[in-house]
Amino acid sequence: MKKIEKVCVIGGGQMGKQIALNAAIHGFKVKITDAIPAVCEALQPWVAEYLTGRIAKGKMAEGDCKAALEHFSVTSSLADAAADADLVVEAIIENKEVKERLFKDLNTLAPKDAIIGTNSSFMVSSIFADCLDNPARLANLHFFNPALVMKLVEVVQGPHTSEDTVQALMDFARRNGKTPIWVRKEAEGFVANRILRAVGTEAMYIAEQGIATPQEIDIAVENGLNYPLGPFRMQDFTGIDIAYDTRKREYEKTGVKPIGYDLLEEKVKRGEFGKKSGKGWYDYSK
Ligand SMILES: NC(=O)c1ccc[n+]([C@@H]2O[C@H](COP(=O)([O-])OP(=O)(O)OC[C@H]3O[C@@H](n4cnc5c(N)ncnc54)[C@H](O)[C@@H]3O)[C@@H](O)[C@H]2O)c1
Repeated sequence: MKKIEKVCVIGGGQMGKQIALNAAIHGFKVKITDAIPAVCEALQPWVAEYLTGRIAKGKMAEGDCKAALEHFSVTSSLADAAADADLVVEAIIENKEVKERLFKDLNTLAPKDAIIGTNSSFMVSSIFADCLDNPARLANLHFFNPALVMKLVEVVQGPHTSEDTVQALMDFARRNGKTPIWVRKEAEGFVANRILRAVGTEAMYIAEQGIATPQEIDIAVENGLNYPLGPFRMQDFTGIDIAYDTRKREYEKTGVKPIGYDLLEEKVKRGEFGKKSGKGWYDYSK
């Protein structure tokens, strides 16, 4: 099994920066890159602010924070980020063509035996198998938001993925303080999000039918079922635009309008994407 020490994270957005910092905190040597220079420039200050906060709250010792800072580096060059990586984690925007281009670049820029994990929520890694000469090293490595906090990591084996790759990724996740599961077959939504989806669809249906408002449904789920977050509050966190895009793809594929489609479309048209835009099912502007 390949032992992972050097990690390259591609994409410095919501997920990538937290995956990268989590790995740096756990002693991995991390290089992170993003296509947008301003995103790259904001990464070191974000890390410094996060770590300072951890010290102030007594959650991390000063020495550990210093070590994490030393392990975390930013580069605007993909070639530089990937050159000596044992593992490349792809965490860029959820767009098939953009990801495809990246995997083709990685085929030449990353070491031939580097493991490649995609953090995509919805695209199984076999879609990208043809981009690599050796797809046995490719799998989904699916973190949950916020990646610094959430314990679950899904390692999803495609028909092309070797068991060695699965084991190396499971080991990497454990050494990141995570609890990984081995998902043995590719399936849309993997495991946890499928269950979440079923609950979310029912919640959307209840709202669509006017049985209760989204906020009342959250109250029911949080107080009656003891979920830490109701489905609508959760959607504000993960992005209403992402929930809409998934349903839009499904609608285009099947011709059947998914439950909740109109409600989500209305939100997206108003630019209410959830927490990241300041408003979703709840108002975060105050
Ligand atoms: N947000 C979530 O809750 C969540 C949870 C699990 C998995 N994911 C998955 O993680 C991935 C990233 O999601 P996110 O929420 O961090 O998105 P985000 O929009 O916050 O960040 C994506 C980043 O990728 C960068 N980028 C785009 N194209 C690039 C390229 N070719 N090279 C380098 N950088 C590029 C963008 O500049 C941006 O900073 C997606 O595949 C998503 O499905 C998201």
